[in-house]
Formats: sequence, structure tokens, C-alpha cells
Amino acid sequence: MRPRDFALERFFARWEFAAELLLCASDVEGWAMSDVLALADESDRRRWQDLHLGYTESPGDPALRAAISGLYEHVNADEVLVFSGAEEAIFALHNVLLAPGDHAVVVRPAYQSLAEVAVAAGAEVTRVDLRESDGWRLDVEDVRAALRPNTRLIQLNEPHNPTGALSDRPTFDRLVSLAAEAGAHLIVDEVYRFLEFDPADRLPAGADAMATGVSIGVMSKSFALAGLRIGWVATRDHELLARLAAFKDYTTICNSAPAEVLALIALKARDHVLMRNRAIVTANLRQLDVFFDRWRGTFEWVRPRGGSIGYPRLLADVPIDRFAEDLVRETGVLILPGTVFADAGNHFRIGFGRTNMPVALDRLEQYAARTLR
Ligand SMILES: Cc1ncc(COP(=O)(O)O)c(C=O)c1O
Repeated sequence: MRPRDFALERFFARWEFAAELLLCASDVEGWAMSDVLALADESDRRRWQDLHLGYTESPGDPALRAAISGLYEHVNADEVLVFSGAEEAIFALHNVLLAPGDHAVVVRPAYQSLAEVAVAAGAEVTRVDLRESDGWRLDVEDVRAALRPNTRLIQLNEPHNPTGALSDRPTFDRLVSLAAEAGAHLIVDEVYRFLEFDPADRLPAGADAMATGVSIGVMSKSFALAGLRIGWVATRDHELLARLAAFKDYTTICNSAPAEVLALIALKARDHVLMRNRAIVTANLRQLDVFFDRWRGTFEWVRPRGGSIGYPRLLADVPIDRFAEDLVRETGVLILPGTVFADAGNHFRIGFGRTNMPVALDRLEQYAARTLR
């Protein structure tokens, strides 16, 4: 079965490059290529200059796989499979792990492919709701209640898109135990990992937490290099890795050679890269705190605990689709209505990874002052 249209991507297809200011992007301000190359050590500078643009090794460049494995505690380079973005990794994982007769547990709201590909693969999918009234926290008992004898995977997204929620450690440990008891894979989409606002809140990676745990990572978000289209799966489950590698032969075969080298350079300099990216996000988040405090009563704001996005609710009696449409047409500022997450609760996603966020927020504020007060 073909997956249904990806509502968020269709919305971005219309607006992402037409709107003047994106106040809903989930990535962090992209690095300039010259700035990435300036981080290269001598050997990687040579690697870049001498690069041959032929096919690359299908599982990923060995040096890149080694650098990625360095993000984990118990993962070796050969337990990393590189994909074209996290999106290809999600597509491959769900197609390989799920078939008709299988069952998956997925949170709601969610980045659509995390549920849609499973449905298209023929699996039954139970959506476990995150609730704003609980601070968007995942309730382990809801996950337990959703389990069935044929549950093949429990899937998390930590930190979470679109809410910025992040489970606490006891909750995460209980979810790991639950997956082990159920004999299910624990899939953790960790594309916003390393952007926890309190580093003490960082959870163990899925691939480290259990032998059948799976981490999905990408260069796009915390590392601010979305244009590389480099993502990966890390897992100690070798049988799963072999099946994923065989599936990839039908999607991209191998990765972009220049993108692999640039990703390698950025990961070797990851402390520096993450420091710059975290500085952007935390400065913007402080501004959002002040904004939402000033506009209490007009917007409900659950402060995110990690990532570069949050999920406020417009309390005024204006449908969020209309508010978003009028806002972008009048001010050039794009927010993402929660309806693209099939959420009728008048929420919208706000992104705070871009350096021009203060300008966009200022325009939103002026517009709100004109139309909502
Ligand atoms: C939770 C989540 N997973 C996966 C992806 C896909 O990442 P990429 O577009 O870099 O492949 C995104 C992108 O927004 C995301 O938010």
C-alpha cells in the first residue's frame, strides 16, 4: 500500500521557500560549507580535495560510521548503517520490521512518517496520546495497555516533534523494560538528541539501552546540516542491520560522497558544532519564554525540554489554519498549524533554531496585537 500524503511536507512544499520568515522550521540554522570545511583536520582536508565522485560503500563510509558510533556507548562502527536522512531510515525500518499481522505502538502527535509507513506496510498501529494537560509526557501505562502479542515495535521520539517533550529517566527505563518483556524492538527517533536544555536530562540512546534497541539519528537537527541528507540507524541487532542493508539496495543504494565527508568533519568537531547550535536555540528559547509570559491568556505554552521546536496553543476563538494563513500572507511569517499533525486542538508548531527567529517573533507579536487584542 502507498503511504498517504505527508501533510507536513505538503504544507512545506507550498510555503517553505515562499514565506519570508520560517517560525516553524525544526532544523537549526544551517552551517555554511566553508565554515564546515574550516573545521577539517589535515587528513580530512585531503580527503575532501582528493574525493572521487564514484559510488560509495553502501553501508556508509567506514570513517563516518566510526564517527557516528562515537555518539553511543555500546555501538561499534559496523553497527551503524548510514542513510539519506532520517527519513530513509524510518522508511526502511518500518518496511523491514512490519508486515500484515504485525502491530506497532506509536505516540501521537508525531512526525507523520513515524506512523504512516507502518500503516502502509500493512501493520496495525496503536497511537498513544501525549496530552498537553500532562505536559505532553508519555504515560508508560498507556503504552502497556496498547501492547498485543503481535507487537513488533514500540516507537519513541525523544526529544519529541512537535512538542519538545522528553521523558524522564525512570519513565524511559520502564519503557525499555516493557519492550524487553513484550519481545518488541524499541525504536527511538533521536534526531533532536544533544539539544536537551539541561544536559542532565539526556536519555540513554535506544541502541545503548537494549540489544534490540534502535537509534535513528541525523545530521539535520542538532548538528544543523540538513542539506547533507545524512542520517543513520544504530543498533546492536545484526540481523536487523543485514535486512536494512538489503532494503537500502532498493532506495538509494549508497550515500552522497561529498555529504559523507562533510558529515565526518562535523562529527569529529562535534563539541564545537553542538556548542554553536545550542547557543542559538537557548538564546531563542529565552525570548520565547518572555513572549509567552507576556501573552498568557492568548497562547498556552508548555515549555519544551529539548530540541528546536515547541507546540503552543492559540486560545483565541480563531481556527489555527486561518490564523496561520492570514499571518503568512500579511507578515511573511510561517507557523505550522497543528492540523498537519491531524490535531484539532488549535495548536501550532513554533521553531526556534533559526537566527532570524527574533525578527519573526516580533512580527508575530505585532500581528497578534492587531488582530487578537
Ligand atoms: C522526529 C523526526 N524524525 C525524522 C525527521 C526526518 O529528518 P530528515 O528530514 O533530516 O531526514 C524529522 C524531520 O523533521 C523529524 O522531526
